[in-house]
Parts: sequence; structure tokens; C-alpha cells
Amino acid sequence: MKALIISAIIGYLIGGIPFSFIIARLKGIDIRKVGSGNVGGTNVLRSAGALAGAFAFALDILKGVLAVFIVRKYGINFQIIAGIFAVIGHCFPVYLKFKGGKGVATTFGVFLGIYYLSGLIFFIFWIITVIFTKYVSLSSIIGLLAGSVFALIMGKSYWIVFLALALFSILRHKDNIQRLISGNERKTDVVKYFLG
Ligand code: G3P
Repeated sequence: MKALIISAIIGYLIGGIPFSFIIARLKGIDIRKVGSGNVGGTNVLRSAGALAGAFAFALDILKGVLAVFIVRKYGINFQIIAGIFAVIGHCFPVYLKFKGGKGVATTFGVFLGIYYLSGLIFFIFWIITVIFTKYVSLSSIIGLLAGSVFALIMGKSYWIVFLALALFSILRHKDNIQRLISGNERKTDVVKYFLG
């Protein structure tokens, strides 16, 4: 029990590091006050450019991977707890008065850390959707569902955890979903940002 609590604390403290906030801040931008206001890589990309966005995405993903890897040798239950709390930390960081991001990149990192093929499936669905629609939110929702359903299809016992993480993050996209329905969601040409 004590080890599980320690895994949760490690996950929360790593997940809670607000990289997107810090990176934008280094460029003099308060990420909470521009664009969508979300403390996430997409909003950093839009407001601070490709390099800053790439760092924000990469480090938010790394939080999920790292949280899982630190407790890896103790087994899957510890990885799951650390992963769940990394996502909770990202969404409710103590460092930012508990107002964090939507959890997509960190959940992707947790998928990669626990079952990298689910991470790969997330990324394939995410990139294809973002290329064709330019809606990052829609791409995130589809990618998260695809990654968790893939774990189910492959018979992984923790698929339900992946799905719960996906649904949790999707719930945090409720404003995006409303904008998608009303046709007002921001389009972000991710590929153009990176490839010019
Ligand atoms: O990762 C969050 C993304 O799915 C949507 O971000 O800034 O468009 O609300 P944003």
C-alpha cells in the first residue's frame, strides 16, 4: 500500500510540472491568457511558435513516459497508478493552483510507457486526423479512443484504465466539442508549423 501511495505521489509531482506554462513564460507569454487559454502544447504552438510548441509537446509526453518508467520494475499496477496520477498532476498541478491542461500529451506518454503500440496507434490516428481536419482537439479525442480500443483488441488487462484516461481527457475537451459542433473550433495546421 505504501509503495502504491509513493507511486501516486511520484506520478503526480512529475505530471504536475507545467512545462507548457514554463516554456511560454520563457517567451514572455502567459499561456493561460492567450488562444484557447489551455496549458498545453497546442496552445504553445499557436502562441509561441514551432520550437516552443515542440518542446512543450515533447516534455508533456515525457512526463507520462517517465512517471511509468520510474516505477516500471515494481510491475504493471504501480505503472498504472503512476500514469493515472501523472495525468491528474498535469490537469490539476499544485504549481498552478490546480489549473492545468487537458491531459492529452501526458496520456499519450502513459500509453507509450505502458504499451507503446497503443501510443503508436494514438499517434497515427492523431496525425491523420490533424492533417485532414486541422482540429487538434478532434484529433486528440480520436487518437485517445483509438489507443485505448487497440489495447482492448490486443487483450490488455489495463485497457479499461486507458479508456478511463481517454474519457477523462475527452471530458476536459467539452468547450472544444461545443465549438466543433457549432463550427467555431480553432484550426491549427500542425504540419505547416513544423514543415513550413
Ligand atoms: O491537447 C489539447 C488539444 O486537444 C486542444 O487544445 O488549445 O485547442 O484547446 P486547444
